[in-house]
Formats: sequence, C-alpha cells, structure tokens
Amino acid sequence: MDGSEHDTPPLDLPGGPDGPVIELDKVTKVYRTGSIAVAALRGVSLSIRQGEYVAVIGPSGSGKSTLMHILGCLDTPTSGAYRLAGEHVSDMSEAALAEVRNRRIGFVFQQFNLLASMSAWQNVELPLAYAGLHRAERKERSMDALARVGLAGRVHHRPGELSGGQQQRVAVARALVTEPDLILADEPTGNLDSLSAGDVLSLMDELHEAGRTLVLITHDAGVASASGRVLGIHDGLLTENDDRYHEHVR
Ligand SMILES: Nc1ncnc2c1ncn2[C@@H]1O[C@H](COP(=O)(O)OP(=O)(O)OP(=O)(O)O)[C@@H](O)[C@H]1O
Ligand SMILES: [Mg+2]
Repeated sequence: MDGSEHDTPPLDLPGGPDGPVIELDKVTKVYRTGSIAVAALRGVSLSIRQGEYVAVIGPSGSGKSTLMHILGCLDTPTSGAYRLAGEHVSDMSEAALAEVRNRRIGFVFQQFNLLASMSAWQNVELPLAYAGLHRAERKERSMDALARVGLAGRVHHRPGELSGGQQQRVAVARALVTEPDLILADEPTGNLDSLSAGDVLSLMDELHEAGRTLVLITHDAGVASASGRVLGIHDGLLTENDDRYHEHVR
C-alpha cells in the first residue's frame, strides 16, 4: 500500500512528531431545538498526542457522539477552540475540511454505515474514489485492506450477506484504506457479540501498534480497558483517568 504518489504526507505537528494531534480548548456544544437548548459539551479541554490510544467512556446522553462529531470535523463547536495537527479547524475552508475528513481521519460507527447495494470491496474503495485514485489502484488497496481485516474471502459479498461482525470489519477496512492519521470509532462494538467485538478490538490494537492515533468511544468499561488512556465523560464534562474506570486500565 505504500509508495503511491497519492499517499498523504505525514502530519507536520506542532512540537515535532510527538506533538499533539488533537487539542480542544474549553469546547462547548449547545444544541437548540425550538426554545429548548441542550448543552451537550460544557467546556471540554483535551490534548491527544500522535500514536495515543484513548478511550472515552460515559453513559447514554453524556456527549460522546457530539465529541466524536467535533473531533471528526463533522460538526463545529458552539464555543472554544479545536486545533487539529496545530491548525485551527474554524479557520479551514470547506475544501480543506473535506480533504481532512477524507484523507486524515477514518471513521467507524456503531451502525457500520455501509452501502447495502455495494459489495464489500466497493464499500471499502469509496474513500479512495473521493480521493481521486484510479480504479486499478482503488481495487488493489481495498482488497489489501479487506485481507488485513480477515475478509479476503468475502470481498464480493454485500453487507446483507455478511454477519454483523464481518460488516464491522468491512467498516474498519474502509476506515484504514486511506491510511489515515487518526481513527475515530463511536461504539464500534456496540452491535456485536463478544467474539466479533474481540476481533474488532484486536484490529484497533494492530492499528495502534502501527502508529495510528485512535479515539474509541464506548459505554463499556471492558472495551475501554483495551486502550492506554481512559477519559470519562459525564453530562458534557471530561474527567482524565476517571476513577470509575481507572481500575480497568491495563
Ligand atoms: N442533533 C441534536 N439536536 C439536539 N440535541 C441533540 C442532538 N444530538 C445530541 N443531542 C443531545 O445532546 C446530548 C448528548 O448527545 P450525544 O449523542 O452526544 O450522547 P452520547 O453520549 O453519544 O449517547 P449514546 O451513548 O446514547 O450514543 C443528549 O442530551 C442529546 O439529546
Ligand atoms: Mg452516541
């Protein structure tokens, strides 16, 4: 997969290669629906270095998905600052943001979010099509990615012809096919049995060992314990090394 002229250059991080990839400074998010305002994030400050594997754990409604959407540049804070690889996200153009989302960040969602009418490899090649790669290279790279997640024998299957665990592995292949710097996973094991969940967590471990920065969102302390650093989130506020989960950390 290496050596392509299309490969994204390494991140130029503030403070060198071990510098922070993600820096949130007092980020808030308020959703307004009619006259009701919900403060989903109430002042979140956070720094994540390149290569860290961080779990964010908290109960339903605590702001986890809101945080992931902001980290993934899918939504913007109401106030506060987000710097991604040293750059203020609020200063980036829509084109620059699209480029970041497509090439720098790989997403894995609880609901897999695969296109039902497309085969596994066609789902995996989609981000490469957006990145403008030629068909032969797209196909080769998506086949490689599917082999990496143990699905070389299922490349022509559609999502409906795959088990839940296999579908999520296709989603992981889609997230890693662009060789992103940052992988954001929101409850990636939420719809899986424990065996398939274990497979997905092993893949996360491999990505971490390969130097990727990972943020894994979960409400399950067992899942969070796969990471090196656990942040609790409660009612829109983060707690570093949350006592409630700390004992589970490796
Ligand atoms: N688009 C929206 N409009 C209005 N309110 C929202 C919106 N999205 C989320 N909220 C509210 O913000 C709060 C945080 O929601 P969020 O989806 O971030 O929680 P979560 O921690 O991911 O929960 P879960 O574990 O159930 O997925 C909730 O009270 C929710 O009702
Ligand atoms: Mg959520």
